[in-house]
Amino acid sequence: MKNELILILDFGGQYNQLIARRIRECNVYSEVVPYNITIEEIKQKSPKGIIFTGGPASVYGEEAVKCEKEIFSLGIPILGICYGMQLMTQMLGGKVAKANMREYGTTKVSIDNKSLLLQGFESTNDFLMSHTDYVQTTPEGFKNIASTPLCPNAAMENVEKKLYGIQFHPEVNHSINGMQVIKNFLFKICGCTGDWVISSFTQESIQKLKEKIGDKKALCALSGGVDSSVAAVLLSKAIGKNLTCIFVDHGLLRKNEGDEVEEIFKKQFDIHLIRVNAKDRFLEKLAGVSDPETKRKIIGEEFIRVFEEEAKKIGTVDFLVQGTIYPDVIESGLGKSSVIKSHHNVGGLPDYVDFKEIVEPLRDLFKDEVRKTGLELGIPENLVYRQPFPGPGLAIRIIGDITDKKLDILKDADAIFREEIAKAGLHKKINQYFAVLTNLKSVGVMGDERTYDYTIALRAVETTDFMTGVFSKIPYEILEKVSSRIVNEVSHVNRVVYDITSKPPATIEWE
Ligand code: XMP
Repeated sequence: MKNELILILDFGGQYNQLIARRIRECNVYSEVVPYNITIEEIKQKSPKGIIFTGGPASVYGEEAVKCEKEIFSLGIPILGICYGMQLMTQMLGGKVAKANMREYGTTKVSIDNKSLLLQGFESTNDFLMSHTDYVQTTPEGFKNIASTPLCPNAAMENVEKKLYGIQFHPEVNHSINGMQVIKNFLFKICGCTGDWVISSFTQESIQKLKEKIGDKKALCALSGGVDSSVAAVLLSKAIGKNLTCIFVDHGLLRKNEGDEVEEIFKKQFDIHLIRVNAKDRFLEKLAGVSDPETKRKIIGEEFIRVFEEEAKKIGTVDFLVQGTIYPDVIESGLGKSSVIKSHHNVGGLPDYVDFKEIVEPLRDLFKDEVRKTGLELGIPENLVYRQPFPGPGLAIRIIGDITDKKLDILKDADAIFREEIAKAGLHKKINQYFAVLTNLKSVGVMGDERTYDYTIALRAVETTDFMTGVFSKIPYEILEKVSSRIVNEVSHVNRVVYDITSKPPATIEWE
C-alpha cells in the first residue's frame, strides 16, 4: 500500500527539515525534494499536498529560484511558506515588494479564522515572522486571511484552486500553536488521514530490501553506533546470512563496549559478524603522538586500512550498506540550500571496497525515527539511546599521547561516572557525559602517603543540536560520589575536576 505523501519543495530555507519533521509528527510521510523537480516526477509521486519552503532569495532578485508554473494547475493543494508564498504570488500575477523595515521575531498576527487553513485560532495569534519582502498585492482569485501592522498580506488563499500562502513560520516553536496550521493543511485541505507509522515503515523496508537484494551479498561496517546498528539489523532481517558485518574494534571504545556490540549482534540477532581486534595496531600507530588533529587522521586512515583488508578477504560483494540518515541527505544538498557541507556518508563513496551498489535503508528517516525503528526491531534500549560517541573514541579524551595504561585509567573512571549518572536517573536529561584524562599530574595525599598522579575531568552537557550547549548542573552530592569513587577505585588518579564551560566557547570534547 502506498502511503500518503506530502512533497516539500526546497527553496533553501533554514527550516526545511523542521517542516518535514512536523508533518511526520502528524503521521503523514513527507519528503524534501529540490525546487526544480519536474512535473512528471511530481505526478509519479502523486502527493496529497505540496509545500513550498522559505528561502534566502528575493523573488525578483537575480538569485531567485522558481518551480515550473504548471504545478499550480495540477489540482494538488499547495501551501507556500514565506518565500514560497511570495513566489506563488509573483508567478500568479500578484505583486511582491521590499518593505521599509524588516519584520523579525514573534509577531501578533490578526487572523480570519473562518479560513480552513486558520481554523481553531483566536482572532490574533503569535507567529514567527522573518522577512523583508512582502506580498503587496495578492494574485487574482486570492483572498487575504491574515495581517500584521507591517505586513498587510500575512496569509492568503484561493480555496477553489486549493492554493494557500503564509508569510509566517508555523513549524518553529516560537509560533504559538503553529502545528494547528500544519494540521489544518494536511487533514482539512489535503484530506490526509495520517496513515504513516514507524512499524509500517519497518515492515515495508524489510520487504523492499528483500526484493532489491534477493540472494546477493551485502557488507556493512558496524560501529556500535545507533545508525549503523539499525541499518545492520534491518538488513539481516531481510537477507539473513547474506549480510556480513565488519566491526573494527580499535580498542578506543568505552569499557566493555566492544564485547557488548559483539554479544548483541552475534547472539541476539545471529548476524554474521567479523570483529577485528585491532587495538595493538592502533596504539602502535598512535604511540608518542599528542597533536589532536594528527591523532584523528591516524585513526581515520588506519580504520579504512583495517576495513579494507577484511573486506578484501570477503571478495566482491554486491551491496555496501551505509547508515546514512535523512538529515545527512538534506545537508549534503538537494535543492537550493545545497552545499552547506558535504557529508562523508553521502556522495563520497568509499573506493576501497569492491562492491557494485550502495544501499542506504535509513535514508528517509530522522534520528528519532531511526531510534523508534531500532526499538521496533528489538535492539536494546541502551544501544538505541546511546549518547553520541566520536569516531576516534577515547583517543580524543586522553590529552597528550595515548598508552594502554592511560586507556585503562580513563575507561574505569568513565564507567564510574556513567554508572552514577544512570543511578541518579540523569542519563536522559544529560545529552552527553564522559570523563577526560587530562595530561595534568598534581600532588595529593592518600593515607599518610604523598601521591603525584593524574587529574580526571568530568564533562556533561545539555544540548539538542550538539552545536551549542550548556554544562549540566549536576547536583553536588552526585559529583561528590563520583569523585570519591574514582579516586578510591581507579589507581593513578588523585584529583577530579568538573568542567563548567558551555559551548561555545568550549567544545564538547576536549580535543
Ligand atoms: P565538539 O567537541 O566539536 O563535538 O563540540 C560536537 C559533537 O560531535 C562529536 N564529535 C565527533 N563525532 N567524529 C565523530 O563521529 C569525530 O571526530 C568527532 N568529534 C566530535 C562530539 O562527541 C559531540 O557529540
